[in-house]
Amino acid sequence: MMWFKKKSAEHQHKDYFTQNWINEWKDQINTSTNYQRDGSDWNAPLILKILPKPDSIEDKNAIGFFLNLQYGECLELRYATQQDTDKSDIVLTADEKTWLKMIQEKQDPTMMIMKGHLKLEKGSLVTLSTHRKAAKSLLKTAPVYSDSKTTSNINRTLNEPSSVRTEHIGFVTTKKGLDFDSFPMRLFQKAKIFGIWNPSDIDFTKDREQWISLNREEKTILIHLSALFMAGEEAVTLDLLPLIQTISKEGRIEEEIFLTSFLWEEAKHTEFFSRFVADVMTDRPDFESFHGPFYKILFYQKLPSFLNALYTDTSPLAQLKASGTYNMIVEGTLAETGYEAYDTMLKENDLLPGLQKGITLLKQDESRHIAYGLYLINRLLEDNPDLKQPFEEHLEELLNDATNIIHEIFEPYDVVPFGLEKEWFLDYSIRQFQHRINKLGL
Ligand SMILES: [Fe+2]
Ligand SMILES: [Fe+2]
Repeated sequence: MMWFKKKSAEHQHKDYFTQNWINEWKDQINTSTNYQRDGSDWNAPLILKILPKPDSIEDKNAIGFFLNLQYGECLELRYATQQDTDKSDIVLTADEKTWLKMIQEKQDPTMMIMKGHLKLEKGSLVTLSTHRKAAKSLLKTAPVYSDSKTTSNINRTLNEPSSVRTEHIGFVTTKKGLDFDSFPMRLFQKAKIFGIWNPSDIDFTKDREQWISLNREEKTILIHLSALFMAGEEAVTLDLLPLIQTISKEGRIEEEIFLTSFLWEEAKHTEFFSRFVADVMTDRPDFESFHGPFYKILFYQKLPSFLNALYTDTSPLAQLKASGTYNMIVEGTLAETGYEAYDTMLKENDLLPGLQKGITLLKQDESRHIAYGLYLINRLLEDNPDLKQPFEEHLEELLNDATNIIHEIFEPYDVVPFGLEKEWFLDYSIRQFQHRINKLGL
């Protein structure tokens, strides 16, 4: 371990942030047509500060780099001293590993500020974000040396994909201790009390007896709703993992601890619906024929796509889109409306007690999942208030998908069995959605 660290440090020392590297960077800025275009209205002397100073910078007074940028051209690029701070409009600070990661992975500096990896010590974020393209292009011109060891060394310390993680830089439990009062840990305590029910303990004997006595239309609507829930629970079980990985990579152990119960519960929900239909709907109808085009857009495409996007993009916006789709729309809007439909059909007619029991238990689990989703979204929006608008637009689009699904469910029925009314459910789903939105202050 020590041997590897030392080798990597030597390599960084040799290549990056040296006088040669600076000279090369200046040449690359001035020969980049992209920077000439993107930086054409940027006139900003700025300092990129590296704290603590890396060994590769031999100048003992240097605090980082001073760049005098004027309208797409770099007039001066040299080591910066403390005195340069006064004549610079912008001072950006990060440690060596963060700068290297940003340069090697061509990251967006504005986004890195929003994510809290880069500190804006002097200047305004508003000004910087109006020159976001220029800042991004500028960083793209910085020389990158291909060295897998250097890259993986940096990756290991900053939100790296777990596939390349080979060491930890510390542990919460040994450093400061778990935060037992945190919201995720409190949810975890609840999960250990209320989430331990066993789907295979639920008795469907009465359900089987009653099922035979239902008429064809009543059976059809129950098969229909169960077909949506069965695949829905399987989808949320399949698609949660990238979110858990993202949270784990960020070292948020309390949240990850809760998420272990979350995934386990989704797995049980999948098991529950499968057991119910295997025990009760014994002729095994064609469930997938009930998955309409709008249902498929959300459950076959958008849900996995927004969640799996986290494997390559863990930015706050990507996390918001994933959690918004999963917790706010699929769980918080559609599933909640579906439970209400089951309740209307079953409770009011004293039907299928096994299914009723499972749904009551499942709803308790789901309320914790949604509560975590709201916590996560709230945390992300608090740290990144600029993302409120794109997040709202994302939700708006998905709410539209959700209401299309509700229209689609009712479409095949001239008279809906059990007296279900489409308008009531549309209204209910929108109220559920608004309730969550209000909680988030959107
Ligand atoms: Fe579930
Ligand atoms: Fe859930």
